[in-house]
Amino acid sequence: MAPMVRRAEAHCVCFQLVLSRLCEVEFHFEQCLSETQVEVLQLGSHCFLYFAKVNATDVPFPTDQLIQYSLLIDGVSADLTSLSYNQILPSLCIPLKLTQVFHGSCRNPHHESRDSLSSADSFIKSCREHGDLGPQILLMSGDQIYADDVAGPMLLAIAQLTECLGLFDDAEANLALPMDLQEQLYRRHLFLPKTPWQSRSKLAIGYWLKKDQPHFTSMKAGNHLIALKEFIALYLLSWSPDVWQLIDQTKLTYSGSNLKHASHFNHELTHLKQFIDDLSSTKRLFGNISTLMMFDDHDVTDDWNLTANWEETVYKEPQSLRIILNGMTAYWLFQGLGNDGLAESRELIQPFKKALKEKVWHWKTFAKPIHRFNSWHYCLATEPKLVVLDTRTHRWRNDEDFNEPSGLMDWDRLLELESNLISHEHVLLVSPAPVFGVKAIEAIQAVFNACGEPLLVDVENWMAHEGAAKKLLDIFRRADTPSETIILSGDVHYSFCFSVKARFGKHDNRIWQLTASGIKNEFPKKLIKLLDKLDTWLYSPLSPLNLFTKRWKMSVDKHSLTDSQSNQFLISSSSISLVTMREGRLEKYELIHGSGQISRFDLDD
Ligand SMILES: [Fe+2]
Repeated sequence: MAPMVRRAEAHCVCFQLVLSRLCEVEFHFEQCLSETQVEVLQLGSHCFLYFAKVNATDVPFPTDQLIQYSLLIDGVSADLTSLSYNQILPSLCIPLKLTQVFHGSCRNPHHESRDSLSSADSFIKSCREHGDLGPQILLMSGDQIYADDVAGPMLLAIAQLTECLGLFDDAEANLALPMDLQEQLYRRHLFLPKTPWQSRSKLAIGYWLKKDQPHFTSMKAGNHLIALKEFIALYLLSWSPDVWQLIDQTKLTYSGSNLKHASHFNHELTHLKQFIDDLSSTKRLFGNISTLMMFDDHDVTDDWNLTANWEETVYKEPQSLRIILNGMTAYWLFQGLGNDGLAESRELIQPFKKALKEKVWHWKTFAKPIHRFNSWHYCLATEPKLVVLDTRTHRWRNDEDFNEPSGLMDWDRLLELESNLISHEHVLLVSPAPVFGVKAIEAIQAVFNACGEPLLVDVENWMAHEGAAKKLLDIFRRADTPSETIILSGDVHYSFCFSVKARFGKHDNRIWQLTASGIKNEFPKKLIKLLDKLDTWLYSPLSPLNLFTKRWKMSVDKHSLTDSQSNQFLISSSSISLVTMREGRLEKYELIHGSGQISRFDLDD
């Protein structure tokens, strides 16, 4: 896997790359003195994950301008022409005064839409050809992989890659899966742990229908990832065109007798092939822009920590817990370590290395450290300041009813957020789920929740938990929080632009809720049109229903696209967003679609 530029600051730039052997790795920046510190993690007989921290030795690296870089492997210059926009060397920018940012979420390799990361690459190429800096950073706010929604052909490719790279096995793999992978395709959910119906609450409908409760609640869990090596292989296949050279694509075939599965397999394969063709541009994009990320549920599994009951059930069962920790470990390796440039995340390296004994992972001593790791969230000292929230591992449980959705962050984390916002004029805040979502959709979720089925419709919104919602809104209503906060969110598979102001406050704080989802995923288009209209009808500014929402003290304005004839506010068309700022304030909000088209929101009140 070619170098990816990860956290980039004036004193240090962190790269991550994967090589098939141990070697000396050194990066050089044009006209800058530096030294490279390397951390290597062996993941297989022929798979080594490298983190290269390039430290400025003389003066800090220049910010907000392009710096060309080269890579030496064992003292020999690596050929980086496939990463370069000028046929010579790739270049990176260390962001400080943010003027333009890419943001997106939800990238499903076999979704039928085109990959918007490819459009992002074309956009940067054109900027650089015109001598423009272009976006300084790429933020991905969740579902960078879909561990619980894997295509059949992808699962076969994963098996080939794990074999080819000799990725290490887990010692504790006790699920009774069929030996033949073909027999596992689209059927893994049958072998994943379940709570027998007799042990379910008598308040659940499932008890009376004598239905066992699956721990992994994804509707598409037929190919759910299980072992760490599978998660590792999915990351590599999602980000690197080079590893696909190791896959014999003629062997990506379904040989079972289920006709429905056969047709589904071929459908997925068609879209996966397009994804693979587009991957060389993803590779080039990652080589030229600092990329920071945050997990959402699908990076690990659907509904991850959604309710206290989910946690109680899944973490008590060793096999279920193992799968979750494998997802978290892979997240740490491929996303987390680069997010903070190994600052806090380094503490897991030693226990992780100790878990490997004779080419097999023995997780006993690593389970606690990874499960309890406390610093997935992070900030970046840019202007505006970047604050990235972990909304999955520090949830505010509903102590009275374990089936109620947990708040997305607990009290301590909300206080930490408050202190991060205070005394800053402008802040760019990444919250994987929108803070100000679509009221009609949240109302529908609330109905399912009231019927005891929060897992059915993913009640993952901030307003679903009384305490967390109240505290968060109180923070935004404070006079000393930023005069403008730009919230970047994803998760929902449609994009929108809302502006929010406190109704009765004396100060003039403005919040922008910019939601971009998905990079390669979409919400059913007809349904989103219907929900959009429903939201407009039910929650018009004068509608009394507004009094029943938790944010009635905030006035929310919806913005449509500039060229919109239909006054549609919710856009379901795969895209990455481009956020343009001037002096920390939002100037332009655009969507660059997978198709290459660009649309722009009208920001006027
Ligand atoms: Fe998603």
